[in-house]
Amino acid sequence: MPLTDAADSRDSAFPNPQSPIPNPLDVPRHVAIIMDGNGRWAARRRRPRAIGHRAGARAVNVCIDFCLDQGIRALTLFAFSSENWGRPEEEVGALMKLFLAALDREVEELHRRGVQVRFIGDRTRFPADIRARMQAAETLTRDNARLTLAIAASYGGRQDIAAAARALAEDVAAGRLRPEQIDEAAVAARVALADLPPPDLFIRTGGDCRISNFLLWQLAYTELWFTQTLWPDLDAATLHAAIRDFGARERRYGLTGEQVSGVRSSMHGSATT
Ligand code: IPE
Ligand code: IPE
Ligand code: MG
Repeated sequence: MPLTDAADSRDSAFPNPQSPIPNPLDVPRHVAIIMDGNGRWAARRRRPRAIGHRAGARAVNVCIDFCLDQGIRALTLFAFSSENWGRPEEEVGALMKLFLAALDREVEELHRRGVQVRFIGDRTRFPADIRARMQAAETLTRDNARLTLAIAASYGGRQDIAAAARALAEDVAAGRLRPEQIDEAAVAARVALADLPPPDLFIRTGGDCRISNFLLWQLAYTELWFTQTLWPDLDAATLHAAIRDFGARERRYGLTGEQVSGVRSSMHGSATT
């Protein structure tokens, strides 16, 4: 997992990714999505689960188009969890085939549209052909800045935090870091997506209201939004509804409403002077 110092942002659109109180936003900078409900979509049609996964690939494009359209700068999609390896062999095999086909089909076009593609998760568990495609997609698109698309594959939030803890322990053992220097910023710099602002908006399709071991550290102050829509049925109207709800929320970060509206008005004040 590549580590990037949070303070050393490569993208000027995200000058201070870990800033505790970002400007109040109408449009989220970073959206993270659990793409759930493919199996039930297929079951309703009395088709095999793999057909639902195939239909889900279309919804990924709906979502990317929407982000490009709305000027959302980062999108993280949960494609396959560390726990999903435990599904029946046939389903895992079908998903691997779909990943490979999607990588071959989509990456050139994503590159042309200015999308930077990256993968988070334990890629050592993937077959070599998929790992090679992941690496090639990252290399091809690494300088793109219009939208950062992070695909969480073989990803688990606990695994992510454990890897950060291990990296910290290695730094201490090597004498690069003292234990008393371990603070939130030190952990934040070592979890996945450290160079991006944490997700502003989390969306889960499929009707279940849970995090399922997605970005546990990164979601601490993310606005959560759940919809019954099954992932293959996702459309722009559903995403617009999520953005609308997001824009109407007051993010308080543990402060009082008065404090936050003070921050808001001073920001608006300084923006206009
Ligand atoms: C999400 O859809 C895709 C993956 C987890 C790979 P599911 O396959 O979990 O669909 P449901 O939840 O069984 O309907
Ligand atoms: C979460 O969905 C993982 C992905 C969408 C990739 P699951 O279907 O695996 O989650 P649970 O089992 O309902 O918690
Ligand atoms: Mg599911």
